[in-house]
Amino acid sequence: MEKVLVIDFGGQYNQLVARRVRENNVYCEIYSYRTPIEEIRAMKPKGIILTGGPSSCYEEGAATCSPELFQLGIPVLGLCYGAQVMSLVLGGKVEKAPVREYGHTALTVDNGSPLFTGVPEETTCWMSHFDYISALAPGFRSIAHTAVTPVAAAENREENLYAIQFHPEVLHTPEGSKMLRNFVYQICGCSGDWRMDDFAERKIKEIREKVGDGKVLCALSGGVDSSVAAVLLSKAVGRQLTCVFVDHGLLRKNEGDEVEEVFGPDGSYDLNFIRVNAQDRYYGKLAGVEEPEKKRKIIGEEFIRVFEEEAKKIGAVDYLVQGTIYPDVVESGLGGESAVIKSHHNVGGLPDHVDFREIIEPLRDLFKDEVRKVGLALGIPEHLVFRQPFPGPGLGIRIIGEVTAEKVRIVQDADAIYREEIAKAAAEWKEQHDGKMPSWIPDQYFAALTNMRSVGVMGDERTYDYAIALRAVKTIDFMTAESAEIPFSVLQTVMNRIINEVRGVNRILYDLTSKPPGTIELE
Ligand code: XMP
Repeated sequence: MEKVLVIDFGGQYNQLVARRVRENNVYCEIYSYRTPIEEIRAMKPKGIILTGGPSSCYEEGAATCSPELFQLGIPVLGLCYGAQVMSLVLGGKVEKAPVREYGHTALTVDNGSPLFTGVPEETTCWMSHFDYISALAPGFRSIAHTAVTPVAAAENREENLYAIQFHPEVLHTPEGSKMLRNFVYQICGCSGDWRMDDFAERKIKEIREKVGDGKVLCALSGGVDSSVAAVLLSKAVGRQLTCVFVDHGLLRKNEGDEVEEVFGPDGSYDLNFIRVNAQDRYYGKLAGVEEPEKKRKIIGEEFIRVFEEEAKKIGAVDYLVQGTIYPDVVESGLGGESAVIKSHHNVGGLPDHVDFREIIEPLRDLFKDEVRKVGLALGIPEHLVFRQPFPGPGLGIRIIGEVTAEKVRIVQDADAIYREEIAKAAAEWKEQHDGKMPSWIPDQYFAALTNMRSVGVMGDERTYDYAIALRAVKTIDFMTAESAEIPFSVLQTVMNRIINEVRGVNRILYDLTSKPPGTIELE
């Protein structure tokens, strides 16, 4: 299979670059800029893309690359910092720009360059840089400029080297996708052999051959990753697979039953399904615990314990399934440069006391949107495939302070109303706007229970009840986020319904905080 490499200099959009390439049906992997040149050569990529990065490439100790990277005979495209590194390493000059350029910027391109085929001469791009290429490297010519940046893009067509100062990978550069497409097809000569429809079939065959008549164990959470992994395994080896679903009592309203409906004995798949109702056990462990990290730890560890106990009943298995996806691989530092501090996002690591030979990670190479495509191809219900992200510790980190069964009930009910009303408002909007989604539609939204109680009045009675916080964010990668502009009327409806329908709540707050400084979850 043909492959393009993304060489990561620590930019925030590294995964986005890879996703954009894959959207063009070209397989793509992310590697750190520290990857030795021999390894890069051995992978025989069709093309190489250098990402943005946070530093100045002319500073002492800044991330860089070997000039040999540009002599492999493989087309290279540098983006932002990547463009500057390429220029500097090849003999050009990079300096602090007289004017910093940030945001939507008018761009004039020379559409005689293969990079800009089909791109209008006047367009816009997303800029974000302090430094600029002040002198081109020998053999390069400028192929795009803005009002203040003479080299917004450059090419050395003979050597197949291209540099772009702006960010074609973000949606704010409307022609950016076309530019990346031009690079992978016209310049690298890719044919586009990465398709999700055959992925499922290929994977099922591969798993069947690997597993043979072995036994397989899978921890199913009901989230899209573990669901798709479980269905792939079920299609490959049927009842050799056992799925253990731990209901920790911190799921969203009715979620446990919904998972059982799909995967349980009356569901659609051929597998052994074990549901463990561990709600009381969790509430017991969490009683009196207020500190967020402690709660996360307890929830994670308890999951492992429950899972191990079930595994023990089953006995030795050959394989353990993990729903690891490509961003997990990159973020754990194995792929790119950004070893993001996300250790807390793992539900609790691997069980120590489960007897298995090997781990199977059927989704290890896929991005989330690709996992969803595979899920749809496998016929998994849409409400599971398009489920919004839900943290491993569940409602445990959406209840500030101590978790109790009563607080879980409150947050579940409030959250169900919030989700129902957002879905309703989005559907109405779509109907009135030719099927288009509203721009305010959040990428993640939920209700959380603040630990604050305040005085209110209901009928003629004084109340002293909890405040619910509504959270809704727009985000691309969940690393940074803005609060979503949910229409006020929708928020009012949600407020009215929660106050009227959820006992124990007398105040609703909307969380406006962006990330940073806030995180998406409240704990
Ligand atoms: P934060 O709160 O860190 O969340 O801004 C970013 C994204 O990650 C999800 N999240 C988690 N997911 N286990 C998970 O599987 C966790 O412990 C966890 N904490 C946060 C969060 O829902 C958001 O999508």
